[in-house]
Amino acid sequence: MAVPVGIHDIALATGHYAMDLSELAERHGVDVGKYYLGLGQREQTVPATDEDIVTMAAAAAAQIVATHGAQDIRTILLATESGIDHSKSAAIPVQELLNLPAATRAVELKQACYGGASALQMAAGLVERDPAHRVLVIASDIARYDIDSGGEATQGAAAVAMLVSADPAVAVLEPESGLYTADVRDFWRPNHRSTPRVDGKLSVSVYLEAVERAWKDYEARGGRALREFAGFCYHQPFTKMAYKAHARLLEINGTAPDQGLLDRDLGHTTVYNGVIGNSYTASLFVGLLSLLDHAEDLSERSVALLSYGSGCVAEFFALRMVPGYRQRLRTEANRAAIERRERISYDRYRAIRDFALPEDGSSLALEHDGAGPFRLRGVSDDSRIYEARRLTRV
Ligand code: HMG
Repeated sequence: MAVPVGIHDIALATGHYAMDLSELAERHGVDVGKYYLGLGQREQTVPATDEDIVTMAAAAAAQIVATHGAQDIRTILLATESGIDHSKSAAIPVQELLNLPAATRAVELKQACYGGASALQMAAGLVERDPAHRVLVIASDIARYDIDSGGEATQGAAAVAMLVSADPAVAVLEPESGLYTADVRDFWRPNHRSTPRVDGKLSVSVYLEAVERAWKDYEARGGRALREFAGFCYHQPFTKMAYKAHARLLEINGTAPDQGLLDRDLGHTTVYNGVIGNSYTASLFVGLLSLLDHAEDLSERSVALLSYGSGCVAEFFALRMVPGYRQRLRTEANRAAIERRERISYDRYRAIRDFALPEDGSSLALEHDGAGPFRLRGVSDDSRIYEARRLTRV
């Protein structure tokens, strides 16, 4: 029998600041109920000026390396759509910050918000080929939209790191999966832009279509029946989207999606995302952590995951929770990362948003701003320079 492969450890990091969406509602001149209830979002993470996807990725992955060491990690797959370079992988500075062995394969993956799920599946393939091999999968993103656009209320930032191994202690990745790809122009970011082009309404309807098509492929490939799942984690650009998606899944399976059922199936998965905001590739796994940190013991139960990345690619797959997994969770650390964020006003958010790194090749040393374990020290000769923050503070 093939060796079980899946998530051996999982850790979260987010940015330094948070803004309540009442600040944005006031600026946008809308009732805050639109954001709190209509989108299901209360706050959004705002990264500090010396934080980016590399510092968040390293902050999440450092927790895993501190517990398990770097032993047998021969691959880092970093999924992001907030890339910092068109050529060089952001997994390389993460490898350097974490002192991982030089005998490491460090690669960046991209397909909008789907990149994290694809990294997990590819990692499982590498471990199946060599069960002694461990893969560090990291999903790290900063969701940023145009100022005063509809998407601005859905911004956020986070990273989730996962150690993928044989005989995992947290969850086994089940082999069945349902896929859907279609060339759609719902959301994309051309190379010359720092924010995406978005057709918001189209993106919602394409997401729902993708849920249906990925589920049907999953069913056709002998996946589990809906009633077998103890939880449902969706990619959450805003938490209300998970409700729309799950309602669609229930409907196509002949179940009326009443509010009580939706709350029961989704409530635990939306706690973290509702205050972090969209974290693109990481969002699905933030939802998974939220479920695991809030639900009763799910040992030997299966959890469904639906990844959607605009453009678009979707995948429906499942994890089976390993008995004893709860002892491996980092619930206190996850809650602390979210709670300790410094709450800021709209004006402060705007000052941070308006700050930009030089684009003309000039150098810049950054002031200390955030408080995470790693920081962007500055830019020199068009290259981002990172450091461990504690080393500079002693
Ligand atoms: P909008 O047009 O400003 O909002 O933008 P709306 O008018 O559709 O209202 C939103 C909801 O609030 C509605 O609920 C309103 O009824 C409700 P719904 O009808 O949808 O259930 N509402 C209120 N509720 C309570 N009290 C009130 C009130 N007022 C209104 N007073 C939109 C919404 C999602 C389009 C916008 O935020 C956007 O463009 N977001 C960015 C794109 C996005 O998140 N798309 C989601 C699917 S695509 C995806 O998930 C991929 C993505 O993560 C990127 C990637 O893959 O890389 C985005």
